[in-house]
Amino acid sequence: MTARPPLAMLAELTHRCPLSCPYCSNPLDLLRKEAELSTGDWADAFRQAADLGVLHVHLSGGEPASRRDLEELVVAARQAGLYTNLITSGIGLTERRLKALDEAGLDHVQLSLQGTDAAMADRIGGYRGGFERKMQVAEWIGATGFPLTLNAVVHRQNLHQLPEALDMAVRIGARRIEVAIVQFHGWAMRNRAALMPTRAQAEEAKRIVEEARKRLLGTLVIDFVPADYHEEYPKSCMGGWGSTGLNIAPDGTVLPCHAAQTIPHLSFDTVHDRPLREIWYDSAAFNAYRGDDWMPELCRTCDRKHIDHGGCRCQALALAGDAGATDPVCAKSPLHAGLRAKAEAFAAGPDDNLTYRTLPPA
Ligand code: SF4
Ligand code: FES
Repeated sequence: MTARPPLAMLAELTHRCPLSCPYCSNPLDLLRKEAELSTGDWADAFRQAADLGVLHVHLSGGEPASRRDLEELVVAARQAGLYTNLITSGIGLTERRLKALDEAGLDHVQLSLQGTDAAMADRIGGYRGGFERKMQVAEWIGATGFPLTLNAVVHRQNLHQLPEALDMAVRIGARRIEVAIVQFHGWAMRNRAALMPTRAQAEEAKRIVEEARKRLLGTLVIDFVPADYHEEYPKSCMGGWGSTGLNIAPDGTVLPCHAAQTIPHLSFDTVHDRPLREIWYDSAAFNAYRGDDWMPELCRTCDRKHIDHGGCRCQALALAGDAGATDPVCAKSPLHAGLRAKAEAFAAGPDDNLTYRTLPPA
């Protein structure tokens, strides 16, 4: 089958990060600095990506500001013709550095929000003083003139702050907010009992977002990712496997999504092994779940298959033990009722048993 070119690339420049959020989507085996691609390797990857058809690069991590060469990387991405978006916690950015990033050509900034006050944000991020610093950085971002999106990851422990997060986005001049109810991959999977929202919270979040979308029309764009485990149908993860985007891990491994390495029977090439174009079009890993030949009967004959593509492959592996299964979030899956019950059980878990993301000892 013929794949279309990718539109977006997530460049995970590093796994290093001063924060240690318990829902981090980075893998449990975090990579150390020594394993990271060099400035030149990234510049080459940006050129190859643009040549392949990629329009946007999201510079992410970990915390991308942990890379001393971030400004050079922005220059390289811009020279390749890519639109550049920096996804940051704000820690590691100074007013001077933001000006340098502006001069380098950075187009857009996405700032993460762990909570709307210091007590919540610093506890969830595992970094004392982080909230105060982030508010200062938000001011500098505005003063530098970057268009700003807030990324609010919400879960059982901070969902009551959602109305305040929306107000905060308007107050600090963000044009967009992404309200994402935590998705259970990576470290979040370890923390399901502490983070799983109740069904009532999941419903209330939808209501709040719907009301705010009407009230703030023309002022703030609100993107919303609902609570997967409480839904009837799964999300269209990555817009379909190997369909619209790709991720590059800090060591250059090229992935169809951030959790793809959890699928044990797939092996992934790095930018050192093969050209990006070949990896996108010809690699076994990128072709594994394209189209609908791989789908179980339930999905292959379903009229929603072009909408959600059978859901998330990594979630199917984690919950059904088979990356080729129907995502158990789907009400048609035989595992759906069990998942519902699990969600209820996790939602009744204790709040105080967070496992923070940590780098293994050197
Ligand atoms: Fe989506 Fe498959 Fe469920 Fe149909 S059966 S809604 S394609 S996950
Ligand atoms: Fe891998 Fe959804 S996170 S397909």
